[in-house]
Amino acid sequence: MVRDQSLGPIQDPLEMNETLENVISKLSASQTYKDQFTRAFGSAEITSEKMSLAMEQFMNSIVSYQSKYDEFLKDSTVFNESEKRGRDLFFGEYNQFFPEESGADCAHCHSGANFENDKYANNGLDKDGEFKDDGREKVTKDSRDKAAFKITSLRNIAITAPYMHDGRFQTLEEVVNHYNNGLKASASLDPALEQTRGTGLRLTAQDKEDLINFLKTLTDNNLTSDPKYASPF
Ligand code: HEC
Repeated sequence: MVRDQSLGPIQDPLEMNETLENVISKLSASQTYKDQFTRAFGSAEITSEKMSLAMEQFMNSIVSYQSKYDEFLKDSTVFNESEKRGRDLFFGEYNQFFPEESGADCAHCHSGANFENDKYANNGLDKDGEFKDDGREKVTKDSRDKAAFKITSLRNIAITAPYMHDGRFQTLEEVVNHYNNGLKASASLDPALEQTRGTGLRLTAQDKEDLINFLKTLTDNNLTSDPKYASPF
């Protein structure tokens, strides 16, 4: 739940490594925050539950729906040739026998309105025996989940580098090269990617450029320039 998600990172030793008690005492020392809590909840008393409710509301308000891609879906803009080809590659299925017509099958995982499918997968970043993070297996204790990570949304992907759970790729070119011919073998590699690993996706330089130009259409400049999300201080 978004509400839990708001308190988790504050306390996680790998993230802010803080205690809720300490955050509450810091917030309670600020007149600005006390006033804000009064405005939102009718009393200046700050609790972790109220903090989580407020942050949940804030996070739920951040919705990206005005990218060029969204405008394209509404027929209020057109894609150029490269963006169109990139879209076909993104959604097209992989076909090892017809590399000329084969798609890159990205939507196999990055699907739906937000380009994610609520699942976890091992997308071939490391070989068996070389994982630094066991990913979802740590939670499920199921070896099929080894090195599986949440299939992330690709909205605003061009402006949210670095990429992957450990930030190993700095550019979309590196990401596309990874899927094209950099997949590493492992027992838990997603079967769809295992299918493309042998031959690679055989993307040409033009294909890669097109795919990236399509990914750039997912950037929502209205969201990123909305003063609601600028620093309130
Ligand atoms: C088998 C499922 C699967 C397929 C197919 C797939 N991806 Fe991914 N993708 C993932 C997973 C899982 C992650 C997150 C990995 C991590 O966090 O380390 C990811 C991460 C990414 C990221 C980085 C997201 C971020 O915010 O760091 C990009 C960009 C991306 N994929 C693009 C693509 C493109 C382009 C294709 C097609 C060529 C593709 N993906 C195909 C599963 C997949």
